[in-house]
Amino acid sequence: MKAYRAAILRFADGSESGRAATLEEDGLLVVAPDGAGRWVVQAVGSYHALKDRFSALSVEHLQGRIIAPGFVDMHNHFPQIDIVGSPAEGLLPWLENYTFPEEQRFSSDEYSAQAARFFLEELLRNGVTTTLTFASCSTESVNALFCEAQRQQMRLITGLCLMDRHAPVGVLNRAAADGSRNATEQSLLDSEALLQKWHGRDRLGYAITPRFAPSCSDDQLHGAGELAARHPDVWIQSHVAENRDEITWARALFPASRSYIATYADFGLMRNRAVYAHCIHLDDDDRALMRDSGAAAAVCPTSNLFLGSGFFDYAAADRIGFQYGLASDIGGGTSFSPFHTMLAAYYVAREGQTKQGLSLSPQHIWWQHTAGAAKALGLDGRQGRPAVGNLQVGCEADFVVLNPQATPLLARRTERANSLDELLFAMIVLGDDRLVERTVISQAQ
Ligand code: GUN
Ligand code: ZN
Repeated sequence: MKAYRAAILRFADGSESGRAATLEEDGLLVVAPDGAGRWVVQAVGSYHALKDRFSALSVEHLQGRIIAPGFVDMHNHFPQIDIVGSPAEGLLPWLENYTFPEEQRFSSDEYSAQAARFFLEELLRNGVTTTLTFASCSTESVNALFCEAQRQQMRLITGLCLMDRHAPVGVLNRAAADGSRNATEQSLLDSEALLQKWHGRDRLGYAITPRFAPSCSDDQLHGAGELAARHPDVWIQSHVAENRDEITWARALFPASRSYIATYADFGLMRNRAVYAHCIHLDDDDRALMRDSGAAAAVCPTSNLFLGSGFFDYAAADRIGFQYGLASDIGGGTSFSPFHTMLAAYYVAREGQTKQGLSLSPQHIWWQHTAGAAKALGLDGRQGRPAVGNLQVGCEADFVVLNPQATPLLARRTERANSLDELLFAMIVLGDDRLVERTVISQAQ
């Protein structure tokens, strides 16, 4: 067992009150390995209330620091690490001019391995401990990312990107080497083999990963839906309704579906643990489909501002009531730092602010990148599954140690904070990687 004394930030248990944070100003966090060798929270609360119960433990006193749940990044692309900050008129030219040429390079094991290592180290350095990530269309890239996450003992979900059309041949899924199968069939067989190899191993999970409807043939989407039906426990990840030109294209390719997002439902790709990045240009029927299917939106505010895609409609999402959480969307997104993503989410919500003055509270913003994102991923402890993104008893002990004195302005501003909201806002607005003094992973205390 280990014990840490510091201020401790966590989220209420329970669905409705769940977006509310509490800060134990002088707290104790006790962690211990469970039967599977994973460190989980054994006790958490006020130091004075708990200290006698754990008096035999030596306590690491983190004076002036805040322990907070590790961040959960619901959507990003590891093969895009080297194209961050590549400006384009919009999504489709950005994909064509930067993304596809770069992703071709990930058919090499070595290239994939070094990028995977850098990518995961950068996430951890920024305080992200759980990630749902796109690989490229090569099995090499998927294996490299899983291997590296396993080495870092990180909770990571990824899968083979499915894309059998509308991009240069070098970036698409490859046909069988002996010519016995075309790229579509081979991509589905490869997905199944990778799923069998990695899903549920250590802290890893598999996501069936159609890139987006325009890059997949009917056969490929159909096969992905069949694979999902055979494996109800795996994740599904894709993109939807990010950009107006993309939507026009998707509608032309799948005219029989009611809407772009309905295309995924028509192929059996909307359900619990299905995560759709962006979800900007939806109507209320689309939002009801999100809600009723149990799918979740990965909101990517830095990416949406950078590529000029639009603004996620928080008011409509809450009115209809579907699940969502925050994501960096590296490399369309501009920062690995959850603080930058949270600040951008605030700007996006301000843009959509209604006349009633609705905007996002700092507790709700922080929740979207921790406990809320974990819930949207189905990683909040329901049905005996692991819980991350929070520091309640039983949660996996992934956490960050924040130093509110990390910069002169942070020190000055947080010192003057008169409430939890003021403190969280100060960190959201002024924070970056310097605020994250340490990232602690459940299995490597
Ligand atoms: N839509 C399809 N592929 C991508 C991608 O790589 N990034 C973003 N932002 N949108 C996409
Ligand atoms: Zn993306």
